[in-house]
Amino acid sequence: MSDRPYTLLSCAMSADGYIDDASPERLRLSSAADFDRVDGVRATCDAILVGAGTVRRDDPKLLLRSPARRERRIARGLPGDLTKVTLTWSGDLDPGSRFFTTGESPKLVYTGSGSVAALADRLGDRAEVVDAGDPVSLPGVLADLAGRGVRRLIVEGGGGIHTRFLTEGLADELQLVVAPFFIGDPAAPRFSGPGVYPQSPARPMRLDSVTRIGDLALLRYLIGGARG
Ligand SMILES: NC(=O)c1ccc[n+]([C@@H]2O[C@H](COP(=O)([O-])OP(=O)(O)OC[C@H]3O[C@@H](n4cnc5c(N)ncnc54)[C@H](OP(=O)(O)O)[C@@H]3O)[C@@H](O)[C@H]2O)c1
Repeated sequence: MSDRPYTLLSCAMSADGYIDDASPERLRLSSAADFDRVDGVRATCDAILVGAGTVRRDDPKLLLRSPARRERRIARGLPGDLTKVTLTWSGDLDPGSRFFTTGESPKLVYTGSGSVAALADRLGDRAEVVDAGDPVSLPGVLADLAGRGVRRLIVEGGGGIHTRFLTEGLADELQLVVAPFFIGDPAAPRFSGPGVYPQSPARPMRLDSVTRIGDLALLRYLIGGARG
């Protein structure tokens, strides 16, 4: 077992790099065909990770949408759904959010040492709260996931999480869907924020493929010494 899972970042952004608008409603940047493609990618993974910001704002279920894909996983001896994973420093997570209330697979919450006891108390048996250090160590989180048998991890945002994985050099692959419109609102969240990125002009990512999905473009990048 490697010290971390193969880690695939998946994101849809506007042509000007935003992953949502600033309104309270979730903005749909993608199409039905692309949601189905992402579902197919999810089905190849063992765990799915989003940041606590996305749990709070989007309240996603993070389940496989296709019953046929779930059945195929079960036939192969895998759990029907992926292990759900989130990261929080504040511990501000609602036990009633769909991250916790939907699906049968394990739910893991990684948090700072000082928040573990209170959060575990609040979440009860809805999730396992894992001490990820102080400050939280992302390589430590990934090593813990690897130790639990997670070989392939899909990371589905949001911007804060993508920024952490990319700047810490912990992503192997990036699947970036570009929507054919602009948001143009500085109050809206971006795909990635300021930081020192190993994928600099001197050390760019490798563009592995470009796929047209209607008016969307899917860019698949392999990053650094990506592992297969
Ligand atoms: N278009 C897309 O594909 C897509 C996909 C997903 C999300 N989104 C959008 O992204 C936006 C949310 O992005 P976001 O940047 O606000 O939130 P986020 O990236 O989902 O989560 C950020 C949060 O994760 C926790 N976190 C990050 N690094 C951590 C660390 N090292 N240790 C402990 N906790 C850590 C913190 O939670 P605490 O604050 O709890 O400490 C932080 O506030 C939403 O608008 C959503 O709609 C878009």
